[in-house]
Amino acid sequence: MNYINQLDLAGKRVLIRVDFNVPLDEEGNITDDNRIRAALPTINYALDEDAKVIVASHMGRPKGKREEKYSMAPVARRLGRLLKKEVIAAPDCIGPEVEELVRSMKPGQVMMLENLRFHKGETNNDPEFGKALAALCDVYVDDAFAVAHRDNASVVSVVRFAKESVAGFTMKKELDYFRRAMIDPARPLAAVLGGAKAMTKLPALENLMEHADKIIIGGAMANTFLMSVGIDVGKSLYEPELVPVANVLLKNAKAAGVKMYIPVDCVVADRYDRKAETKLVTVQDVPHEWMIMDIGPATSTLYREALRDCKTIIWNGPMGAFEMDAFSRGTYNMVSTVAQTYALTIIGGGDTDVAVSNAGESENISYISTGGGAFLALLTGEVLPAVEALGGYTGLENGGHS
Ligand code: 3PG
Repeated sequence: MNYINQLDLAGKRVLIRVDFNVPLDEEGNITDDNRIRAALPTINYALDEDAKVIVASHMGRPKGKREEKYSMAPVARRLGRLLKKEVIAAPDCIGPEVEELVRSMKPGQVMMLENLRFHKGETNNDPEFGKALAALCDVYVDDAFAVAHRDNASVVSVVRFAKESVAGFTMKKELDYFRRAMIDPARPLAAVLGGAKAMTKLPALENLMEHADKIIIGGAMANTFLMSVGIDVGKSLYEPELVPVANVLLKNAKAAGVKMYIPVDCVVADRYDRKAETKLVTVQDVPHEWMIMDIGPATSTLYREALRDCKTIIWNGPMGAFEMDAFSRGTYNMVSTVAQTYALTIIGGGDTDVAVSNAGESENISYISTGGGAFLALLTGEVLPAVEALGGYTGLENGGHS
């Protein structure tokens, strides 16, 4: 894989694929611009090199049709504010009008293309769509790590047609940190997995089993593991079909010498509501009609002790329903535990970054991934189509063996 700083960009049309799929509120205001900020080093580098910079992204899942609520226009304005320069908002992402606009660009100018997913060809990985995008540029730069797990034309097909294709600095940083954490890491290596659904995390867990020394489970997915060791979780969310799988995973971990931790106490509520009645109980004492909403203080202490000697920590997913104050303590305890260690700490996906940023601890984490699904795909050892297209390799593909 080659990188943007290995090429001469002066005067060239440089198409930078970013992931500006940012959250918006009901009025269409951007509520978190971290993904836009993450792309600034790559965009600024190209501008400093006197390139004509064309920025492309998707937003939401508009399914091949133009939908105003998914327009990139507000993102183009925010990018302009952050770059402190005008960003031309193109009316589309391919076609004669866009080609004409690109032809009129001067070095040092920036244009933001309209949402790539307004065209079906994007998510279908249609070569014709990739070819049309490639025709807009002399150099294609992929800096969109967060969508690298998608077989989409703007990150896969385009590479076949672009004259030169390289990765940007965000892509490089994401893969570099991941490799440091998962390939020949400083040990002990711990993986902390939380969030609601065990189903989406089990493949990652299976893969992590081959790499990590300790695995810590929290969030509603822990309920499935509790059920698998015969603990009745009352009305808590859990996945019955995965109970036997969870049991096998716990046994496999033991056999492999991987220490796996599940909660010992929890905060329970009589309903899923921030005003619900709550109690603190051991996991053996969850009342039948109540549900587990967060890990308890003894579990937080257990997890802190387990992480104390770790030299590398990867964390994905909250420990409880942290969006409600009454059930946020377990997640925030984990934030402070991870922020205070001397380990290499990498977090990504599943709102974990939101918790870290709410707690004001972002500065104390070694790296916060811009990826959600892409980060999980890396943890699972999947081949990321966009990385593969660029001729790259994460080192964990093919069953997790480097
Ligand atoms: C993300 O937000 O994880 C990426 O932008 C990918 O979006 P998608 O899940 O809609 O493909």
